[in-house]
Amino acid sequence: MYVGFACFCGRDRTKAVQKVETYWGQDDDTIASYSVRSGFDLLLQALELDEGDEIIFSALNIKGMMKVVHRLGLVPVPADLDIDYFGPRLETLEAAITPKSKVLVVAHLFGSRIDMVPIVAFARKHNLILVEDLPQAFDGHAYPGAREADVKMFSFGPLKTATALNGALIRVNDEKLRNRMRDLLKGVVVLPGLANKVHSYWIFTMMVDEPHTFIKKLRALGFDCGDMPRSQAVKAPADRPEISPIVSDTSLKDMIMVPCYPGMPKRELVRLADAIKKIADETGTERTKTFARTLQPVISHD
Ligand SMILES: Cc1ncc(COP(=O)(O)O)c(C=O)c1O
Repeated sequence: MYVGFACFCGRDRTKAVQKVETYWGQDDDTIASYSVRSGFDLLLQALELDEGDEIIFSALNIKGMMKVVHRLGLVPVPADLDIDYFGPRLETLEAAITPKSKVLVVAHLFGSRIDMVPIVAFARKHNLILVEDLPQAFDGHAYPGAREADVKMFSFGPLKTATALNGALIRVNDEKLRNRMRDLLKGVVVLPGLANKVHSYWIFTMMVDEPHTFIKKLRALGFDCGDMPRSQAVKAPADRPEISPIVSDTSLKDMIMVPCYPGMPKRELVRLADAIKKIADETGTERTKTFARTLQPVISHD
């Protein structure tokens, strides 16, 4: 439940994230993310693979995972399942290997758990980053993932054994890789609404860590930027606190609007984008990073 709380909770988010990230101990090997898909996206970005590199998957997974791979210009490659044990046999894995193979993702399906020993040996032999995909097989402290698997991903989304409606934990063995993943979250701005197919963009909305700094600096550069003093999250009736709109309330506090309309000259748009990037780099604090880490679903929505 705490994972979902860590995703959406406002004031106590940092504390909640700390709590879930130490679920398996104090090793600092765990990153909380909004979902396995967004954590996987972050991982692939941090690996800095080349366009066209291949990600081998045990062949049954959800569509959203493929979407992440395609979006980054990478190629998913199947290793078909032996249906008796819901996992790929070594011969099938061998057949999937090419010089471009970089990552192997093995999913434990429908609560069953694959023997990881031969798969770990296979991954080592071919120098692959081994990712254990565990959304369907969370078993609390009983199974923290195979020690030798480079990355373990647990989901707490809907229809999971331990659902918190959203949230995921990504365990990463290699400290350098983990730090690269955390670094990628520095100075991030969150762009709400990207999952919608239609957007007329007469203004551009962003959630940032220090809205007032952003507004002041962008105005100083001549951009008409503001927050939303006339908006509010609709309050829940006093006797129904369980439906309080926590996401809306938290998001609104961090939301700013910048001008962005068809008549705006391209050079001004570029100047605006550069300014936003610079200010985000300067103001990225622990709170923004946590916020971005837990609220980056838009990149990998189905
Ligand atoms: C095997 C597998 N991988 C990845 C995912 C994605 O998890 P999330 O919804 O947290 O992104 C799921 C979700 O059902 C899954 O079953």
